[in-house]
Amino acid sequence: MSHAFPTAPQSPARAQGAGAVVRLSGVSLGFGGPDVLSNISFSVAPGETRILLGPAGVGKSVLLKLIIGLLRPQEGTVLLLGDDISSLPEERLFTLRARAGMVFQEGALFDSLTVRDNIGYQLIQERAPDDEIDQRVREALTFVGLEQTFDLYPASLSGGMKRRVAIARALIHDPELILYDSPTGGLDPVTSTTIIELIVKQRDVHATPALLVTHRLQDAFTLCNHRFDAEQNRMVQLPEGQINPNTTFLMLEEGRLILDGSLHELLHSTNSEVREFLE
Ligand SMILES: Nc1ncnc2c1ncn2[C@@H]1O[C@H](COP(=O)(O)OP(=O)(O)O)[C@@H](O)[C@H]1O
Ligand SMILES: [Mg+2]
Repeated sequence: MSHAFPTAPQSPARAQGAGAVVRLSGVSLGFGGPDVLSNISFSVAPGETRILLGPAGVGKSVLLKLIIGLLRPQEGTVLLLGDDISSLPEERLFTLRARAGMVFQEGALFDSLTVRDNIGYQLIQERAPDDEIDQRVREALTFVGLEQTFDLYPASLSGGMKRRVAIARALIHDPELILYDSPTGGLDPVTSTTIIELIVKQRDVHATPALLVTHRLQDAFTLCNHRFDAEQNRMVQLPEGQINPNTTFLMLEEGRLILDGSLHELLHSTNSEVREFLE
């Protein structure tokens, strides 16, 4: 594989590590058997987009669930937005979790609810006024380019549209962090690009820190060498040789973190498992 990417130093935001949005230290977790995640440490800095690579079954989804406290570590600590989720009582966890947006694998929409009620789900639970819900749902739908689906049910949407609705549902609360679990999984390359464009848009327009799981290297490269152009309202490629400095990589292999670094570090890694993944 050949890549026209330049030698880039590690991003300054990440090198500092202070004031991290997420910080895992020595995290291990098993489900009664061998550890699914073993001694994982890394952080997500403000403004940073971290791309988590790795083949199926290595613990990527488990890692995201740990970060929002749907699972708790057996060893180590998970700091989310400055709070230690491993020791928070459930009711405080709920409030903390609400500050992060999660786009679940496969979108996870409620089939019996309209797009409006799926996206507004949490606002409905909080008994927000109907017209406020309508307005915020419409704004979120405009962001993902799906205004026309407001009254539809998920069954009448394509796979790509469902993912966009799932992204709108995560973004409606202006999250301080967004977690995307395989947002392009199962989609064709053209539809995948429309999803990546939304992620680039959220990164470049709102600078929301993110952790994105993917097994598709093409998604990762598109995120690195594009920016969102607000005037044209679309994603455009960066000039030859430039990459987004705030987009960095993690790679998991059988529960171990085998890479934590920039695109340059990924492409020049001498780790045999990393090389195998790239080839
Ligand atoms: N709740 C659970 N109970 C038992 N095993 C689980 C649970 N969740 C995940 N696992 C196991 O942990 C491993 C990693 O799963 P996962 O994080 O979903 O992988 P992926 O990298 O594909 O997202 C798999 O072997 C899976 O079977
Ligand atoms: Mg998964």
